[in-house]
Amino acid sequence: HIGAERFVPDSRDLDKLSTAARVCRGCDLYRDADQTVFGAGSPGSTIMFVGEQPGDQEDRAGEPFVGPAGRLFDRALDAADIDRETTYVTNAVKHFKFTRAAGQKRRIHEKPNCGEVIACRPWLLAELDAISPRIVVCLGATAAQALLGTGFRLTRHRGERFDLGADGDLGHDHSESVVATVHPSSILRGPTDQRERAFDAFVEDLRVVRDLAS
Ligand code: URA
Ligand code: SF4
Repeated sequence: HIGAERFVPDSRDLDKLSTAARVCRGCDLYRDADQTVFGAGSPGSTIMFVGEQPGDQEDRAGEPFVGPAGRLFDRALDAADIDRETTYVTNAVKHFKFTRAAGQKRRIHEKPNCGEVIACRPWLLAELDAISPRIVVCLGATAAQALLGTGFRLTRHRGERFDLGADGDLGHDHSESVVATVHPSSILRGPTDQRERAFDAFVEDLRVVRDLAS
């Protein structure tokens, strides 16, 4: 496999992109997943959110952030006064990667590796080009590393604003700001007694994003 590049059409029309992505075989992840989960949302969005990869429910539904992490994300958007309908939501990797414990049916999320993130990056860059948002919000380290490099440390640079320069290595002709925050799943996985505080901090990051985008 040599990555998604050869599957990405020249067009920056979102429908054409998502249709083409259905048959991507840029890495091995298409083999076991049900379907490609492309980004969703309004083409005129000023905010673009990037998660890690679809989860079990997203893989079944074909839509990003519709499972437990998605519900937490929706609540946080509400609390931050951001209308999800006016944003674009996607993932760094478009296929669900999972394992099964021996003899079990349940599919357990497995983090995509660096090669898979790089393989899938042409889709993310095409979406970025198509949307041309004012601000890109990386939800978690995987998304941040896909756009800001593998050296990016979320613990150190959470909430900091970076510019993807027009002359940068992403090779497109406009620039946008990128901010990284935690992944909603990290709040669900975290200790119960800290959930509320983690949720509030996430909402606080989203409020900053809302103000940057307006
Ligand atoms: N986690 C993600 O990163 N993306 C989704 O779409 C769902 C869960
Ligand atoms: Fe293509 Fe990305 Fe799916 Fe790999 S994960 S097959 S690169 S769409």
